[in-house]
Amino acid sequence: MQIIDGKQISAQIKQEIAAEVEKIIAAGGKRPHLAGVLVGHDGGSESYMSSKVKACEQCGFKSSLIRFEEDVTEQQLLDTIDKLNHDSDVDGFIVQLPLPRHINEQRVIEAIDYRKDVDGFHPINVGRLSIGLPCFRSATPSGIMMLLERYGIETRGKHCVVIGRSNIVGKPIASLLMQKSTPGNCTVTVCHSATPNIADYTRQADILIAALGKPGFVTADMVKDGAVVIDVGTTRVQDDTRKSGWRLCGDVDFDHVAPRCSFITPVPGGVGPMTIVSLMHNTLLAATRQIYSL
Ligand code: GUN
Repeated sequence: MQIIDGKQISAQIKQEIAAEVEKIIAAGGKRPHLAGVLVGHDGGSESYMSSKVKACEQCGFKSSLIRFEEDVTEQQLLDTIDKLNHDSDVDGFIVQLPLPRHINEQRVIEAIDYRKDVDGFHPINVGRLSIGLPCFRSATPSGIMMLLERYGIETRGKHCVVIGRSNIVGKPIASLLMQKSTPGNCTVTVCHSATPNIADYTRQADILIAALGKPGFVTADMVKDGAVVIDVGTTRVQDDTRKSGWRLCGDVDFDHVAPRCSFITPVPGGVGPMTIVSLMHNTLLAATRQIYSL
């Protein structure tokens, strides 16, 4: 059994990105610039956003953070997006989700210029991903693909079972893994909350991707010997032994599942760090206009 070290791979990719940025600067180019919009003070969103700002520094990017209180109006957000869309110094930007309930999230996502949508949430990027065209891939599926590639994990002809059908993980990772590419060429099954007897499917998985957000859901009896297990779960559970009062918990019962696997991602330190690095990768693609010209 090999533990997939997302922390190490993400550090390596950040170094590669930083080296690219130095080349751009040495050639007289502009430093890539990622902007982020953060509404309110949700603990998870605050911590994601500060990790993204830190990753920008490590990659040599410029970053800027625009903050609003919970009572921001949808129009104020749309006006901010319009400014960012037209700001020629900003290569890409994200609006951290979730947004307060009085704001229509989909309207906000669709207001972002798809050419600056480094989160890959705009329907143009989602649609292009699903038909295999160059696009900004949403960060978590893109990070999983990078891990499979860097660890040389064979995917062709394998049965991949995805648990979870979210727009930002389950659906796009299913699309990517069924595409005629490497990694890819899998036979994909997607299970979700209305699937009866999920274990009947997961036991057939050569590659199992757990992205449902239920801590410890995947138990040892649900996994085939030698499977590759990718844990996308990042639920905060109470832990009074920690200073913060919580710890991150994956969707997989790691201690019991790991001995059965050929490869497994830990939580934390597996998929999580790759999600941030995928955003950095998309920002570099945006800054160098490798997908769309502006
Ligand atoms: N909230 C949880 N994950 C994400 C993400 O990848 N991007 C944004 N914008 N918000 C999130």
